[in-house]
Amino acid sequence: MSSRPSFYGFDTFPGMPQNDEGDDTLASGSFRAGIEIATARCRAVGLQAPELQLVPGLFADNADRIGDRPAAIVHLDCDLHASTRDALCLIGPRLVQGSVLPCDDYDLFRADNQAGQRRALREFTEASGIQLETWFAYGAASRAFLCHVNPT
Ligand SMILES: C[S@@+](CC[C@H](N)C(=O)[O-])C[C@H]1O[C@@H](n2cnc3c(N)ncnc32)[C@H](O)[C@@H]1O
Repeated sequence: MSSRPSFYGFDTFPGMPQNDEGDDTLASGSFRAGIEIATARCRAVGLQAPELQLVPGLFADNADRIGDRPAAIVHLDCDLHASTRDALCLIGPRLVQGSVLPCDDYDLFRADNQAGQRRALREFTEASGIQLETWFAYGAASRAFLCHVNPT
């Protein structure tokens, strides 16, 4: 196994999936970005295959693409409750003690605990037993967490 870190990028690429969670800014098809553009931007900073793997499609359809290595950093930037839930389902088995989870949209939906990433993270920690410790807040609505996988 290579000792070089891998970088996975999971996204539909044609934009947000069908949803009824947000306003027009989160409507289906918003945030469209071609996989070719993402590939070129990664190449510009020295990131390319085989270390780089961009995986197009819904998170829920790509659980088998995550590989078998532990996750160091998982950037969750998918806005919605269902999307964050599906992303956590995909990455959950790869989280280890000390994995870092920057959550770009933690305080979206006016920081409502029953919506968006706040809801998905709460449900995930309840179901998995993994504890998330706030590390730092950043940006307008973002928060980074440290994972504790066997909390005592
Ligand atoms: C706010 S954009 C952020 C995109 C990118 N991280 C950036 O900063 O430019 C949210 C992204 O999440 C993706 N996304 C949301 N739900 C998804 C899902 N269920 N499966 C795959 N991608 C999803 C959308 O396609 C969109 O590109």
